[in-house]
Amino acid sequence: MRTQVGIVGAGPAGLMLSHLLHLHGIESVVLEARSQQYVEERIRAGVLEQGTADLLVETGVGERMKRDGMVHHGIELRFGGRAHRIDLSQLTGGSAVTIYAQHEVIKDLIAARLAAGGQIVFEAGDVSVHNFDSSAPTIQFRENGTATHKELTCDFIAGCDGFHGICRPTIPTDALTMYERTYPFAWLGILAEARPSSEELIYAYHDRGFALHSMRSPALTRLYLQCAPDEHSDNWPDRKIWDELQTRFATLDGWKLNQGPIVQKGITPMRSFVVEPMQFGSLFLAGDAAHIVPPTGAKGLNLAVADVRVLARALTDYYATGSRELLARYSEICLRRVWKVQRFSWWMTSMLHRFTDENAFDHRRQLAELDYVTTSRAASQSLAENYVGLPME
Ligand code: FAD
Ligand code: PHB
Repeated sequence: MRTQVGIVGAGPAGLMLSHLLHLHGIESVVLEARSQQYVEERIRAGVLEQGTADLLVETGVGERMKRDGMVHHGIELRFGGRAHRIDLSQLTGGSAVTIYAQHEVIKDLIAARLAAGGQIVFEAGDVSVHNFDSSAPTIQFRENGTATHKELTCDFIAGCDGFHGICRPTIPTDALTMYERTYPFAWLGILAEARPSSEELIYAYHDRGFALHSMRSPALTRLYLQCAPDEHSDNWPDRKIWDELQTRFATLDGWKLNQGPIVQKGITPMRSFVVEPMQFGSLFLAGDAAHIVPPTGAKGLNLAVADVRVLARALTDYYATGSRELLARYSEICLRRVWKVQRFSWWMTSMLHRFTDENAFDHRRQLAELDYVTTSRAASQSLAENYVGLPME
């Protein structure tokens, strides 16, 4: 087998890269460890930056998002029993975010790739990458369930295989520097068949910890609670979850959370991680394979898409002109955005969670930060411009 760009992983990064390359006449093959059904049902992110939503529309995969997605012009910060709205659109000259589930984006991208004759190998086993210090790298894998090993020869490999993938660990460790921070808490997330209790997202800071109210549709609510890092969802019966959520979202004027059957429950660890550089020879890392952000800023999917925009542009330039200049600068261009998004995600996380090692001073400082960000136009504008997405370079 041969292709121009071999892509490991059919998450947002891998599929969007394959789609963008196709639009520029560049061939790719995507190898995915899981089944099509699994990746199309995996519940993850839900907030698309303005630029991500625009890109889906501009590249012809935004029809369902335009129909079913919910455009939000503001978010709420809730603390001290009071609600404070951040008017994203007013503070950014008209930008907004779109609530549209990550697995729906995945479905739209898979459908577009398959309709265009694109090749996605699902259930690829034992995927390994080789010779990426040369100009003829290869990817070895087993086709679903068979013992036959196959080899894909390509010009470039894109490692879009997420944080636990194989591409990053295959690069010699002395060529990479890793930056990492773990947080002393996790999120317990639920999906409930309940009407959202508010039209917009609510980020709540409470003495008992953080809580987030989000949604997937007019009938499905997505909720998160700060919990211990080693927590197991079995310790959280439904009644306890609803009581804790109601307590953390409570307002002085008696706000009520809509409840309904919980259809999914899971724990999300919180981590900040960056690898530098994001490339080695003809292997390029994109998305969670290269960096992780805590979900408080809703940035992971958006950052994955931003990386592959840069990579697609560099590969397009190479195939059109033979110049490797943009390819050589891939990591440097991506990392400028990555670190700004890391900063924002860390800042949102630090402002909104209770820390086990905090003292009374830290607690008062956090409340002052929330007071400042919700009363100063300069501070709320900074939050808003990051939340809707910094401009692409
Ligand atoms: P992934 O989506 O992880 O895709 C990698 C793919 O590679 C997977 O399909 C995997 O099966 C495959 N793979 C792995 N190993 C191999 C292998 N060896 N061979 C072949 N294939 C392999 N981000 C936001 O922007 N907004 C949000 O609101 C948000 N909320 C989140 C909420 C939760 C609960 C979680 C868990 C994440 C959230 N994120 C959010 C983060 C976001 O989901 C990720 O950042 C995003 O999925 C990254 O995309 P990716 O393509 O880089 O990686
Ligand atoms: C979600 O809807 O899953 C979601 C929303 C906002 C976040 C994180 C997750 O910051």
